[in-house]
Amino acid sequence: MSEQTPDLRATPKPEAWRQLAQQIASVLEGTTDDITAMATISCLVHHAFGHLWTGFYRVVTPGKLLRVGPYQGTLGCLEIPFGKGVCGTAASTKTTQLVPDVHAYPGHITCDGRSASEIVVPVFDRMGALIAVFDIDSEHQSAFDADDQVQLERILAWFRHP
Ligand code: SME
Repeated sequence: MSEQTPDLRATPKPEAWRQLAQQIASVLEGTTDDITAMATISCLVHHAFGHLWTGFYRVVTPGKLLRVGPYQGTLGCLEIPFGKGVCGTAASTKTTQLVPDVHAYPGHITCDGRSASEIVVPVFDRMGALIAVFDIDSEHQSAFDADDQVQLERILAWFRHP
């Protein structure tokens, strides 16, 4: 792992999130390109925690369709309709979905059979419009909690930039 993409798995979570948020803010300083930010956030979060899949589904037809990318990890489904699976539910309800056990989630979309738990956070622009959802999948059950939700929502507030 390069020094630029630190592995924070051995770091206590609050400190890991602090370092990660600081690094993301510093790498993105001066950038206003949303895709560049999505690629950078996917990369840094993925390598910090070593999850199965970390990335964005972008809103391509508001209220109807999400399309994948940028992301890191194993192959993701290309498109997800609003309301389908965890990502589609986060998009249609505009609320974060914390799923401790994906097998107990009705309609979960299985892209990688090893996925056991996930968190999906809606991403909004400055006008409050939904532009994407950010999905992290783990091969461990209950990998995410309310603290992760708060930290991720804070990092993803970047997309509310002018
Ligand atoms: N787990 C997601 C599908 C996308 S991926 O696993 C990359 C869901 O049910 O929304």
